[in-house]
Amino acid sequence: MSNYHIKQFEEYFQVYKKSVTQPEQFWEEIAEEHFYWRKKWNKVLSWDFAKPEIKWFEGAQLNITENCLDRHLHSRAHKTAILFEPNNPNEPAEHITYKQLHERVCRFANVLKEQGINKGDRVCIYLPMIPELAVSVLACARIGAIHSVVFAGFSATALSTRINDCDAKMVITSDGSYRGAKTIDLKGIVDEALEDCNGVTSVLVAKRIHSEINMKEGRDHWLQPLLDEAYKDYTAEIMDAEDPLFILYTSGSTGKPKGMMHTCGGYMVYTAYTFKNVFQYREEDVYWCTADIGWITGHSYIVYGPLANGATTVMFEGVPSYPDYGRFWDIVEKHKVSQFYTAPTAIRALAKQGNAFVEKHDLSSLKVLGTVGEPINEEAWHWYNENIGKKKSPIADTWWQTETGGIMISPIPFCTPTKPTYATLPFIGVQPTLMNEKGEEIKGNQVEGRLCIKYPWPSIARTIWGNHQRYKDTYFSAYDNMYFTGDGALRDEVGYYRITGRVDDVIIVSGHNLGTAPIEDAINEHQAVAESAIVGFPHDVKGNALYGYVTLKGSSEGRNQDNLRQEINQLITDRIGPIAKLNKIQFVEGLPKTRSGKIMRRILRKIAASEMDQLGDTSTLLNPEVVQRIIDDRL
Ligand code: PRX
Repeated sequence: MSNYHIKQFEEYFQVYKKSVTQPEQFWEEIAEEHFYWRKKWNKVLSWDFAKPEIKWFEGAQLNITENCLDRHLHSRAHKTAILFEPNNPNEPAEHITYKQLHERVCRFANVLKEQGINKGDRVCIYLPMIPELAVSVLACARIGAIHSVVFAGFSATALSTRINDCDAKMVITSDGSYRGAKTIDLKGIVDEALEDCNGVTSVLVAKRIHSEINMKEGRDHWLQPLLDEAYKDYTAEIMDAEDPLFILYTSGSTGKPKGMMHTCGGYMVYTAYTFKNVFQYREEDVYWCTADIGWITGHSYIVYGPLANGATTVMFEGVPSYPDYGRFWDIVEKHKVSQFYTAPTAIRALAKQGNAFVEKHDLSSLKVLGTVGEPINEEAWHWYNENIGKKKSPIADTWWQTETGGIMISPIPFCTPTKPTYATLPFIGVQPTLMNEKGEEIKGNQVEGRLCIKYPWPSIARTIWGNHQRYKDTYFSAYDNMYFTGDGALRDEVGYYRITGRVDDVIIVSGHNLGTAPIEDAINEHQAVAESAIVGFPHDVKGNALYGYVTLKGSSEGRNQDNLRQEINQLITDRIGPIAKLNKIQFVEGLPKTRSGKIMRRILRKIAASEMDQLGDTSTLLNPEVVQRIIDDRL
């Protein structure tokens, strides 16, 4: 089959049709032709959304790193696999070839083994965007250990929760990280987290900022001397297709974060196939995704998808504003980037700076642009299209989730006609549908509903680590025989999808998923706070920002409100991380509640968005009188 690259719109429809009428045959052909398996499968797919249980390529054996590294050694040994661009633009970029990456991963794999890590053990990785991050991810996969990468902007409490949830034995970190003009003491955060984690027996520390740190005797080891001594080859562990590859935590609307578990075979096939097609990657291209490997976008489209295709993938350590707001465009010019994949929040932040930063740079290498993580507004879409893509590089607005593992709805560049703010059509093999509140499927076009997926695709998460019941309740219980995404969407007159946003209590701030419950829990820890409710409200750069309504205990009502605001945001920073800080905190006498005592967030959302004319009937509330007071005092 020749359709690893989908080229024209008609071809898309043909391939799509086959992928949904004969899904098993379709994915079997893709898997056979484009990957290296130690043993082929007995069965392509078995599934039951009621249990839920999904298995792809059962009985097959492989190691994903043989697909990402070893098999490129004949033809691409000296091709750059990872192009590392440091935080400081005066520090030289590092070109790590496939041969070098293979060797670094093998050495690291040997170090992991020597430290007592075995197949199936969990390893927590808490690193900045330096090559060791990608190398450690691949080293875990090489020995069959399950990596759990935690974004290095999370706090000590958030880190320890994630370490304990999956019982990690090891943490891999660095002495610190660079972030623009700042440095962050990562090792200090790890030390604090580990006070609550008894299961961690060793900590490997990469040197990055050369700061003074504490090394705990017997537990902490500098990474480099161990790597220097390790052997440069390691025979990959043979994994079953359905063995776990990694756990990645994502926020839920309630409770602790959900450890989404992905497995080896299906994840590899789907991320590689989507990468090739959504970015129309060609052999000589330099591809850059600006995400952090701490998120799913980095897992699938900085590490696994690109490397499985033998691509050159850029890893950028810094931030878009350092040393100035032209940094992204400087990197595009310097490395002649062909595909550029970023988040709408970054586009909005850069657009706000005006075009002078863009015009200084030659962006003619760009061929394809991508966005991910939140709905892209019309203005940002046009700015991106006109100023970055010069109206010649199609924009792939890619909708997907940590849970889906790979891109689910997206135009295929040079094939699907794009439409601003629309993720357009399902990717090959994906069967989306819209449901109404009565649980019925909404047929036809020009309709709006809740986005569900009717049929499994190879990279769907298989469970929530340690809590299969929660997996079932969250994704498979809202509608029979459907995966429920938690998003709302509309379908236009030609069948294009536009994602309108979350329909649950998850709020997407600057492209990061935040659950309201853990933030409220953090606020409620403050000794002056009686109760709180968080809602999102529209923000011109972040997409959404957080608005908190807080009631104080009687004894604290006279306290200085600015001090309280600072203390509350500090608590949130300590418990979750700075990404969850509130933009606005309004102290209120009471929160609007239903007669059964439930907080009416819908009303609070409307007030935060200044949509007071859309409050609806508030007379049935338990305490309707508070609403007007909240409106009068709103920030
Ligand atoms: O609400 C959708 C939004 O991001 C959520 C998934 O977040 P996360 O698991 O962190 O993964 C983000 C990166 C894949 C979705 O439920 N989202 C993601 N992409 C888009 C989007 N909303 C609108 N348009 C998108 N292109």
